Amino acid sequence: MDIVVSGIRPTGNLHLGNYFGALRNFIKMQEENQCFFFIADYHSLTTHPTPADLHGNVKSVLVDYLAAGLDPEKATLYLQSDLPETAELYLFLNMNAYLGELERVTSFKDKARTQPDNINAGLLTYPTLMAADIIIHKAHKVPVGKDQEQHLEMTRTFANRFNRLYKTEYFPEPVAYNFGEQLIKIPGLDGSTKMGKSEGEGNAIFLNDDPSVIRKKVMKAVTDSGPTEPGQPKPQPIENLFNLMKALSKPETLRFFEEAYDQCNIRYGDMKKQLAEDAIAFTEPFREKIESLRSNDEYLRKVALMGKEKAHESAAKTIREVREIIGFKPF
Ligand code: TRP
Repeated sequence: MDIVVSGIRPTGNLHLGNYFGALRNFIKMQEENQCFFFIADYHSLTTHPTPADLHGNVKSVLVDYLAAGLDPEKATLYLQSDLPETAELYLFLNMNAYLGELERVTSFKDKARTQPDNINAGLLTYPTLMAADIIIHKAHKVPVGKDQEQHLEMTRTFANRFNRLYKTEYFPEPVAYNFGEQLIKIPGLDGSTKMGKSEGEGNAIFLNDDPSVIRKKVMKAVTDSGPTEPGQPKPQPIENLFNLMKALSKPETLRFFEEAYDQCNIRYGDMKKQLAEDAIAFTEPFREKIESLRSNDEYLRKVALMGKEKAHESAAKTIREVREIIGFKPF
């Protein structure tokens, strides 16, 4: 059975883009692999969150992942900060990580450009911490998007370097697990091609949005005056509405509006009203579960503790063996 590891950034509540992206695939993977999914709260310290924001965002993603179907009995679901073995492995890996290679990482260069007054060592060594997250469980597969390929390449570099330095084959080479075709890209409501939080309020539908909020957001989605001749290609914002409908609505609903578009008698107001109701129906089960989980601290504590214990079992073994390989020996 393959060992799968992936980290979840604690960014607060999840939207439909997250759901159709990583989340649904995690839910599928937990059935057939030994999965370790953790909330990357050590990593988030690079941006210096307040204690309240840190905890609040961790809680929101934990609740949303559970509500959406991540099963703590099947996957090991834990907080990165509950596994200090990761921090120890990070220290070991940093001894063999070179300034030049870390400075060349695209995500580091981007951050250094966008936040020039906070270029801290945590940002620079983000790839070593991510490598530690992955190889602490000796993972084979890492389900991540294209934007993480370079970090994963670094992980392989660090794992191989460790093996070479100590003349061992201890760490396997983890590969990106790409869902390719199965990934449904969810567009934003503002006409942009991607639903995302940073794109601004109103661009994303969150799993816990109230029906009234969803209606307001969808009705505000960008449209135009409509097609004037049959067969006209759809402008991006219109294409987006159809793509959202494809993900959320019944096939016959989609067909109805496709035909209306082709016949140039589409009414975007009606289409958005329908889309809003379908989005409300789609998110309803999540909304209810999120609400009940949010107030169930006892259950959340139980889930976190169970994850911590299972993750610790795997990580403690690795650290014990790594210490021995490096040459730390008890007298
Ligand atoms: N870097 C990942 C992201 O930005 C999060 C992450 C941290 C991660 N550690 C990881 C992903 C280990 C996969 C494996 O989304």
